[in-house]
Amino acid sequence: MEKIFIFDTTLRDGEQTPGVAFTGDEKLKIARALRNLGVDVIEAGFPASSSGDLKAVKAIAEEIDGPVIAALARALPDDIKKAGEALRLAKKGRIHTFIATSPVHMKYKLKKTPDEVLKIAVEAVRFAREYTEEVEFSPEDASRSDSVFLCEIVQAVIEAGAQIINIPDTVGYSTPEEFADLIRTLKSKVSGIDGVRLSVHCHNDLGMAVANSLSAAKAGARQIECAINGIGERAGNAALEEIVMAIKTREDFFNFYTGVNTREIYPTSRLVSHLTGISIQPNKAIVGKNAFRHQSGIHQDGVLKKSITYEIIAPSSVGLEESELVLGKLSGRHAFKEKLKQLGFYLNDEELEKCFNVFKQLAEKKKEVFDEDLMLIVEEQTARIPQFFSLDYIHAVTGNKILPTATVRIKKNGEVYQEASCGDGPIDATYKAIDKICRLDLTLVDYSIKSATVGKDALGEVTVKVKKDDILVSGRGSSTDIIEASAKAYINAINRLLYRYTRGENAKDN
Ligand code: KIV
Ligand code: ZN
Repeated sequence: MEKIFIFDTTLRDGEQTPGVAFTGDEKLKIARALRNLGVDVIEAGFPASSSGDLKAVKAIAEEIDGPVIAALARALPDDIKKAGEALRLAKKGRIHTFIATSPVHMKYKLKKTPDEVLKIAVEAVRFAREYTEEVEFSPEDASRSDSVFLCEIVQAVIEAGAQIINIPDTVGYSTPEEFADLIRTLKSKVSGIDGVRLSVHCHNDLGMAVANSLSAAKAGARQIECAINGIGERAGNAALEEIVMAIKTREDFFNFYTGVNTREIYPTSRLVSHLTGISIQPNKAIVGKNAFRHQSGIHQDGVLKKSITYEIIAPSSVGLEESELVLGKLSGRHAFKEKLKQLGFYLNDEELEKCFNVFKQLAEKKKEVFDEDLMLIVEEQTARIPQFFSLDYIHAVTGNKILPTATVRIKKNGEVYQEASCGDGPIDATYKAIDKICRLDLTLVDYSIKSATVGKDALGEVTVKVKKDDILVSGRGSSTDIIEASAKAYINAINRLLYRYTRGENAKDN
């Protein structure tokens, strides 16, 4: 197996993500995480771009041991000098210098002829070698450059002393086959190419950055430039986590390895997301929230029987605890029981069936049923309090210009009772309708509502305290509908009260 060198550019190209600007401290934090991750090269910044960046690169070069610290420089003496100064204390430093080589860039951006560009590139590499042992050269926009000129300039910079030749697909224009062909062309046409390390740097404008990078590696590139979470200019760079995990997971196909400690992937990804303020799309490969979550009943059942049925990567290998069963309307009994076990509930078959039915009803209303929802269901369904009354139906009407009214149907001993009432609000109307059915002459002492779970479709949890004679009881109910939760809490309190009466008890409830 051959090694693929991982060149991380989170701190340089990643910082070119619109809206992202790291402080020096933040850069240092990320650099430490990248060192722990085990990348081979950290491109720490572009010292000529600002004095702050020069300082940050300097601090990283001084502190970080292990990976090579690279600094970007245009093919200009002043840029190279600044990069050299920033890297002075690096244990292993590399100046990464570049100039555009595509006709469109040379004509409109640089306003230079190919001969002029070649001369500047050669001088830049020679000058950079005066500062650092290693020099990397990038012909910017290589994938849209004339391949004959590309070979010519690459050969010239190798002769000038560049040891790493990086081929950028600067605007993410290439395709995997085409990009691999370009690497093969360079390998066959440039003399001295075998003595240098070929690298690739792919942007994701057409969503092919990772595929292009891997395809280039298959064709002979041995360094891949990438960024955590795929951040970078415009649509970003190839995502480090995808490159590394593709190489690891499909070792049989690629026959490569990297020096990355993959268990550090997830924590590093979270750190970068936190410091950039860019959240990761849920379905993002490897580090997205859903990457190891299973929603459908068929998949959950399969994963519980043998994880490899639907998991090609062990979550622990990227630093996650375990895969997650997401309970929703497609989940089956197997996943439901397993999830309750994880939450510490071991129910008998009857309790399990009861809870499962309530869960299914809730899942019809709610996209995702959270752990907190399940705990409430179990508490409600397995409480030892007899269900003297149970809510069968509720309909409440309210508005700012109508009288709030509620119709409630309650079951008692198999019989159904229905009443309607008006009130000061829909909850008051509901409680009055329940009072008409239960005829207990209760005093509502306290009412509180809180959101028991997260999200717009959160479960509302209502707690009430009611009193009759000397007995004070509390009741709890939950639902995505707060009127229903209120009715359930009130009926729950009534059931507790009646239970106390049946036991001949009249001490205070807690
Ligand atoms: O995308 C690009 O071409 C670059 C170079 C500076 C390597 O970022
Ligand atoms: Zn780039």
